[in-house]
Amino acid sequence: MYNFSFYNPVKIIFGKNTISKLSKEIPKNSKIMIIYGGGSIKKNGVYQQVIDALSGIEFVEFAGIEANPHYETCLKCVEKIKAKNVDFLLAVGGGSVIDAVKFIAAATFFENDPWKIMNEEANIKKALPFGSILTLPATASEMNKGAVITKAATHEKLAFHSDKVYPKFSILDPTTTFTLPKIQIANGIIDTFVHVTEQYLTTCENAKIQDYFAESILKVLIEEGLKVFDDLENYDIRANLMWASTWGLNGWIAQGQSEDWSTHMIGHELTAIHGIDHAQTLAIILPGVMEIMKNDKKEKIIQMGKNVFGIIEKDDETFIKKTISAVDNFFQSLGIATHLSDYNVPDETIEIIVKRLKDRNWILGEKQNITPEVVKEILKIRK
Ligand code: NZQ
Ligand code: ZN
Repeated sequence: MYNFSFYNPVKIIFGKNTISKLSKEIPKNSKIMIIYGGGSIKKNGVYQQVIDALSGIEFVEFAGIEANPHYETCLKCVEKIKAKNVDFLLAVGGGSVIDAVKFIAAATFFENDPWKIMNEEANIKKALPFGSILTLPATASEMNKGAVITKAATHEKLAFHSDKVYPKFSILDPTTTFTLPKIQIANGIIDTFVHVTEQYLTTCENAKIQDYFAESILKVLIEEGLKVFDDLENYDIRANLMWASTWGLNGWIAQGQSEDWSTHMIGHELTAIHGIDHAQTLAIILPGVMEIMKNDKKEKIIQMGKNVFGIIEKDDETFIKKTISAVDNFFQSLGIATHLSDYNVPDETIEIIVKRLKDRNWILGEKQNITPEVVKEILKIRK
């Protein structure tokens, strides 16, 4: 296990009817802005619960954060924050709304060109404080310091991370997820699955707590993922899925381990170019990364096959093949297609992605050996 130091200050408030506790978490005399997406919270009653919980607190609103939030929309929100002297933000929604709020919080005080925030070396000195109310378990944005923003004008989708953008608190009420469309439930399960594999299917560091924890998250996703569609208002299933997602990317399972993230980086390009849902891009790419990188990831793929899918094989090659098929089949069993052709992605996109990665000098993977040429191989076998 590598050395590590770890910090995660997010207060989690989990369970039924917890939105009613909101006002206790907001600093006294704050002027807050509620930020949300396209209106799902108005249809499912979450908006009303928030308004009720804020009784007596001064607030303004900003609606219309898109899925895969746009930089351009975030800047409009920053203008309104400045005009209205807002000093506390409240994100209500899925990962897109929380990510947008992280960017907005940082951009409010950023003195340079705000797109420079998306450069990992950006020096973010200050951000507005904010809390979140999560309605879609997937990204773990509610308990991490990362955000992914899309510049619509150039079809670029980039991530940034900063200790300044941890939420002050996040409220997770699993009943808010009952209204999710089936596709978003499947997306959330797959996104979480791949967050775990990015931190687990790497090299063997003998970090057993992290490994077993990662395996337990994967097992919960498989167990509950296969049941959730038959029992959409089962609280325990939703609670387990919600908490699994938070743990998938709250930082803990990555400690002392090497991390990959190539599936995400390649997937972000597919979303940026074709608008394919984030999790669907991951379902396409992960089996390709496992196949092309199987020599580097051999030990962990076999460990996952055994401990997560219960596969037993003497021959390593067959073991790996069966594990990759098990992952691919699991994604498909959730109703998510796993090949580029299923989404009508033309061959030219492969060249465009390879060129983009070359232009950014990106080399991916836990061993920093997934070059743009290797990415091409990964994409080619997922046609
Ligand atoms: O916009 P509204 O009307 O709220 O509708 C949303 C949206 O259309 C809807 N929805 C959310 N909660 C609902 C609901 N519909 C009914 N009932 C509910 N309870 O679901 C749709 C998708 O929402 P979105 O927030 O886009 O989904 P998700 O949470 O999957 O977030 C995806 C974004 O997160 C980024 C992705 O790249 C993508 O931009 N990621 C962020 C990460 C992070 N911050 O650490 C890591 C991830 O790997 C990921 O990259
Ligand atoms: Zn993700």
